[in-house]
This record gives sequence, C-alpha cells and structure tokens, in this order.
Amino acid sequence: MGMKVLIVGGGGREHALAWKIAQSPLVEKLYCAPGNAGIADLAECVAMGAEDLPALRDFAVEHQIDLTVVGPEVPLTLGITDLFQASGLQVFGPSKAAAEIEGSKAFMKGLFAKYNIPTAEFKPFTNPDEAKAYVQEKGAPIVVKTSGLAAGKGAIVCQSIEEANAAIDQVMVERAFGEAGDTVIVEEFLTGEEASFIALVDGENILPLAGSQDHKAVGEGDTGLNTGGMGAYSPAPVLTEELSAKAMEMVMKPTVRAMAAEGRPYRGVLYAGLMIDHGRIKTLEFNARFGDPETQPILYRMKSDIVPLLMASANGSLEGATVTWDPRTSLCVVLAAGGYPGSYVKGAAISGLDRAAQVEDAFVFHAGTKLDGPQTVTSGGRVLGVTALGKSAKEAQQRAYQAVDAIEWKDLYCRRDIGYRAVKREES
Ligand code: AMP
Ligand code: GLY
Repeated sequence: MGMKVLIVGGGGREHALAWKIAQSPLVEKLYCAPGNAGIADLAECVAMGAEDLPALRDFAVEHQIDLTVVGPEVPLTLGITDLFQASGLQVFGPSKAAAEIEGSKAFMKGLFAKYNIPTAEFKPFTNPDEAKAYVQEKGAPIVVKTSGLAAGKGAIVCQSIEEANAAIDQVMVERAFGEAGDTVIVEEFLTGEEASFIALVDGENILPLAGSQDHKAVGEGDTGLNTGGMGAYSPAPVLTEELSAKAMEMVMKPTVRAMAAEGRPYRGVLYAGLMIDHGRIKTLEFNARFGDPETQPILYRMKSDIVPLLMASANGSLEGATVTWDPRTSLCVVLAAGGYPGSYVKGAAISGLDRAAQVEDAFVFHAGTKLDGPQTVTSGGRVLGVTALGKSAKEAQQRAYQAVDAIEWKDLYCRRDIGYRAVKREES
C-alpha cells in the first residue's frame, strides 16, 4: 500500500512540494489544504485553512494520512506538529518549542548569544524609550525588527536615527504588527551578499540542500520595500564549497546542538538567512520551514526522491542520507499582482499558461491562484513562480523570462533582473 500524504499550505512553495512529492513512487494519494489552482493538477485540494489546526488534525486522522508536510510558519508556531503527534500522526516540521527559532527573534538572538553563533550585534527591548536611547548610542544605519512573526515585513532597515525612532514608534507604540512588536530587536546593519542555506534536520543530523539566493526587495537592483521574495535561484555562487562548509561548522551544527541542549530538539527544515561579506558569515535569521520562493528552484533541480528524506527527518533517521542535484542552474521569477507588497487587486484572469508550459525545461509554479470555473484567476500578491533550468545562470534566466513573456494579466508585475548577481559573476 502506498502512502497518503497531506501538504499544509497553498503557495508557490507548496506547489513545488506537491510537484516533487507527487513524483515519488512511494506515494499513492496526495492531499493539500488549502492548495491552489496549480496544486489541483497534482493533489486533491481540501478547503481548510492552513491555520485551522483541529480541522486539519481531524482530516488527517479520518483519512489515515501517513505523512503531513507543513509549508508555512504560522501552523508550526501554533503547534501543529505537537497536536498531530498527540494523535499518533507523523509530521514533517518542528515542534512548537523548536519553531520558536523563527517565531521569536528574541529567542533566536538569545540562542545566538548564548552559543556564540555569529550574528549582528543586537539588543532586545520592550520599552520604546530604551530602544531609542540605544539607537542614539549606536547611530545609523541600524535595523529595527519585531520579535514576533510579521509575514516578512517586520525587519526595517533604517538609514537615519529619525527613521529608526519612527520605526520604533510604528512597531511598539502604534503596534503596526500587533503583539509581534511588543518586543523589538535593534541590531547592527550588516553589509554583504545574502544567501539562503536550507537543510533538513532530524534532531541531530543535518542534510544541507542546494544553496540558493532570494531577491527580497520589490524593485530591480534590490530597491524598494521588502517582500516575501520576488525570485530566487540555485545554486548560489556566493555560497562556495568552502563557505558552505563554514556555515555548517559555525552556524548549522552549533544551532542544532544548542536546540537539543535547550530541550527543543530540532526536526524539519532549518533555513539560515546568511549575510556573506568577504568570506565572513553572519546569520540574519532562522526560518523553521522551506523558503518561498527558494523551494521552487531548489526542488526543480533535486534528483532524489524527497519523500524518504522528509520521513527520515520526521523520524530521526537522517544519518548518512544523501541527495543528488541536477548540475544546471535553476531560476524562478515571481509574477506578482501590481501593488504588492502593498494593496492589490484579486480575481484577474490569467492567460498564456498553456504557451508558457511549452517552454522546454521550464515549469510554472502557482502561488496565489484559484479556479473560477475553467479560468485560472489571481488570488494573492505573489501569483506565479516561473522556474527554468539552464546550463548557466544566464541560460536559466533567458528561459525563465521566455516563459514569463507568454503569461499575461492586467497589472502583472515582475522584476526583470532575477539572478543578476550570478549572471554578473559568470561574465567576469
Ligand atoms: P529578516 O526578516 O531578519 O531576515 O530580515 C529581512 C531582510 O532585511 C533581510 O533579508 C535583509 O535583506 C534585511 N536585513 C535584516 N537584518 C539586517 C541587518 N542586520 N543588516 C542588513 N540588512 C538586514
Ligand atoms: N524567501 C524568504 C523566506 O521564505 O523567508
């Protein structure tokens, strides 16, 4: 009997997971809650919110789900893993206590300090006047962050003391992110190039996946507001073999050991956002889940069956596990609704998906889409993740944009420069 698998979530990351999991010969039936129009081609979509934990648990019990794979951070920080395990269900993802590494930056930074994990110099505050006095003492540029989850918008890079004071007011006094901003972290501004180091962890053993780089800012050349991510590619040439080894020794291994020592053994995806500057590594953040959009290009070049790896992470048997990769570069361009990350319109009819599907070595992952009768329409800020493989970053980029150019809707917006750092490196 094959396995029954449930994916929780409905974005681009979950479409990539569904695409990869559906290819596993171990899997007989795939469900996704709530899914999207693209996932509906691969899985049975179930109309339940990713944060409706009791309904998800009841569904998993009733349908005898063998493995639940959790995409987004919120159900993890709410304790979906603990709840499912209490009903005897197997879950890929950290416990509530372990997911605090993403859910509370104050916890994460405290862990870094206690275990000497390299990160930006920082101080946590619950009082806005004290936070402002610290800003005054340190000077600008400086970074103000909510300790709690703020959907990727909680880190505010401030160029002046005035901007930092305004950010502190916005977060702590006006409470723009609610209780997520009750504690803020004020930290040193770091320069360098960012990379995403994503690994599977089983409590003890760490299996690094291919490196990647995200493009967080909405505008070309990394300008404008931060978003969830406007595109990503893998591998990331900035993460050389030497730097990856250094990240394992200085960041990943000490963190996994620290979490075990703190009585919060870590299982699931451990995603380190790294800042790399002249060979020096500092950790910007940890996420307790797969990156979005990084997962799209990473899984598009993963050759191994992912299901045994997810199972091994969940049941503590990752030791000795390996993973093989397509040697080519994979690159994902996010197509967003105009206005994102601010307000935007939903419900626009998307055309050209058939033509895009004909581009060789390319795939269109859906994020915020849904079916309106036979028509696929937009239903979120990030709508599609057009992903392609190429022998070089340049070729992957050209192929991805070839597929992008087949797609249309009113107000479509995308960056035209995804992968520019890798392309520049190839040219130099
Ligand atoms: P975070 O949510 O902490 O990953 O921050 C989101 C983004 O803000 C990061 O990907 C960086 O681009 C930027 N950022 C966060 N912290 C810093 C820092 N200390 N120095 C420079 N940029 C930062
Ligand atoms: N792409 C950044 C993230 O998933 O947090």
